Amino acid sequence: PVLVVDFGAQYAQLIARRVREANVYSEIVPSSMPIAEMLKKDPAAIVLSGGPSSVYEEGAPQVDPSLFEAGVPVLGICYGFQAMALALGGEVAHTGLREYGGTKVSTTEESTLLHGTPADQSVWMSHGDAVHTAPPGFDVLAESSGAPVAAFENKEKAFYGVQWHPEVKHSTFGQTVLTNFLYTGAGLPGDWTTGNVIDEQVARIRAQIGDGKVICALSGGVDSAVAAALVQRAVGDQLTCVFVDHGLLRSGEAEQVEQDFVAATGVKLKVVDAVERFQTALTGVSDPEEKRKIIGREFIRVFEDAAREVVEEAHESDGEDVKFLVQGTLYPDVVESGGGTGTANIKSHHNVGGLPDDLQFALVEPLRTLFKDEVRAVGAQLGLPEEIVQRQPFPGPGLAIRIVGEVTRERLDTLRQADAIVRSELTAAGLDREIWQCPVVLLADVRSVGVQGDGRTYGHPIVLRPVSSEDAMTADWTRVPHELLARISTRITNEVDGVNRVVLDVTSKPPGTIEWE
Ligand code: XMP
Repeated sequence: PVLVVDFGAQYAQLIARRVREANVYSEIVPSSMPIAEMLKKDPAAIVLSGGPSSVYEEGAPQVDPSLFEAGVPVLGICYGFQAMALALGGEVAHTGLREYGGTKVSTTEESTLLHGTPADQSVWMSHGDAVHTAPPGFDVLAESSGAPVAAFENKEKAFYGVQWHPEVKHSTFGQTVLTNFLYTGAGLPGDWTTGNVIDEQVARIRAQIGDGKVICALSGGVDSAVAAALVQRAVGDQLTCVFVDHGLLRSGEAEQVEQDFVAATGVKLKVVDAVERFQTALTGVSDPEEKRKIIGREFIRVFEDAAREVVEEAHESDGEDVKFLVQGTLYPDVVESGGGTGTANIKSHHNVGGLPDDLQFALVEPLRTLFKDEVRAVGAQLGLPEEIVQRQPFPGPGLAIRIVGEVTRERLDTLRQADAIVRSELTAAGLDREIWQCPVVLLADVRSVGVQGDGRTYGHPIVLRPVSSEDAMTADWTRVPHELLARISTRITNEVDGVNRVVLDVTSKPPGTIEWE
């Protein structure tokens, strides 16, 4: 893989995506990982990401100079560029002068890294310090008003660096710079595709499962559907899919799984009614992390029961236990749950951080390294229908994390009605593709005064959270037309008992997350 070394902030995810867009497989590692461990992954190249620190700050992450003795091509970006300059004997000045946003850089020399980009180009900068002297053996390729050395390269050693952010779309020729590094600088073929992912994962799944039995937790969403389809391709009939109706689904969802997915794949499907069980477990609980943990645990207990039944029901039962559980965990879930990159635990995604310690299954997670758009591409290539592949994300813990407060049947019904109105109006307005997802949230612990019909009401607000995103790691609130918002508001307050107010969430991520809990 190409390793993207994460120096903090949000940049590493974006770089990893752009590298994959160039058809080169990438993985993110924390900057705290020792070089020896990075080298064990046999990296084809290393990208040092940007980060929020100044190289001179106390405790700022450094680059271990031994990285540059391993014979691996390196690209330093922004903070990574400065850390690289410092480690190799260049000079970084703490100017205190900031360059932020769209900036002009001028090329000073023909080079590998900037080949095919214009002599004057607009790039995205975000830095206070600047490299003043390039390390010995390096050519200076570009300059800007705030950065005397804005890019450098040492072709012989395959070391490259840029002060700006080529991964950001505002850097017009950013992708050219990245591909120059990957294809020419590091000599990588750029032949990684979703087809490779399928072959590789199918082989890996076969090796892991052998002739054992496996169950797959289907949620109704894209991820678990694609994971199941991959496992089915790998081991066919050894797979039974289990769909748990936990009573936290939106209206019509259970039926969709039973019809669409089974029709598309022909998998064996077992539906478990666990409404009572989840309701009981969630009674009296309003803390978000506690809800997630409870739901993660109950899911597993239900799967354990289902696994026993699968064995009992098997026609020619060989009495062999189900040892494997498939989950549709994605790369952002792993990253955000604090796994993989050493970043903070933002929330325990139920299928990563919410699992019980005494799990009786080995997990099969064929999508663990993929971003959502890659999962969709794999699904399409596996022949899953549009309706499944393009479905908007919906969290495993379902409506439970969209009721701020305790989860009760009555509140679930209220939220389901409001959610159905929002979904049908957004679909009718043709916004399903533009909107990444639109959580509808019931503020059950908040009451608002209203006047409805002839009298005062004391009800609850509903929050609309339409967001646009590329991969859910970052998001912006979608500018939904006002007339449409008005219609949704009128319908909800008229049609849904107990709701007398509709509000719009206008927060990006960060600082908000997409879900409210
Ligand atoms: P946040 O709220 O972290 O959400 O910005 C990012 C994306 O992940 C979904 N999400 C989850 N999905 N289990 C899931 O399967 C979870 O526990 C979970 N929490 C959030 C959320 O809907 C959004 O798409």
